[in-house]
Amino acid sequence: MRNIVLTGFMGSGKTVVARQLARLLGMKVIDVDNEIEKSAKMTINEIFKQFGETRFREMETENIKQVSENNNVIISTGGGAVLKQENMDAMREKGVIVCLTAAPETILERTKSTRDRPLLLVENPLERIKELLEFRRPFYEKADVMIDTEDKTPLQIAEEIIERMKEYY
Ligand code: S3P
Repeated sequence: MRNIVLTGFMGSGKTVVARQLARLLGMKVIDVDNEIEKSAKMTINEIFKQFGETRFREMETENIKQVSENNNVIISTGGGAVLKQENMDAMREKGVIVCLTAAPETILERTKSTRDRPLLLVENPLERIKELLEFRRPFYEKADVMIDTEDKTPLQIAEEIIERMKEYY
């Protein structure tokens, strides 16, 4: 089976959907942000603070290239993974790229209780979400499969992904 690569904005549900897919398909999940934190021995927040976003993006690319060499796994990416074409190329080599979408208000609801997303630690996170979404839309739309997550459970979303994956076999 080809890898399933989950992309989408922060709070689009990649982590929970990856877990659900893993249960249904008996596949392993690799979370790119976790891999970055393990290899840097720092949290994402610390990496942003100490080295800045540009260095974070380099680390992200290194880790994406590495994890994309696996077969038969679910890869959960960070929300900015789609911004570099070389990331997309690496992820697509053995995988189908799935993008989860949600409205800005839903994203705010899903992200507001945690402080582990440096890009959203601003005075008006809703405005920031809207701006980033607007800028990133064309990048997210490069995915092979787009899935709207509004008003759906992680199980429903995972089942929809499995159904859509059939186009790729
Ligand atoms: C980011 C999303 C985060 C993390 C980092 C940057 C982004 O991952 O990679 O904070 O640029 O959208 P999640 O999408 O898992 O929150």
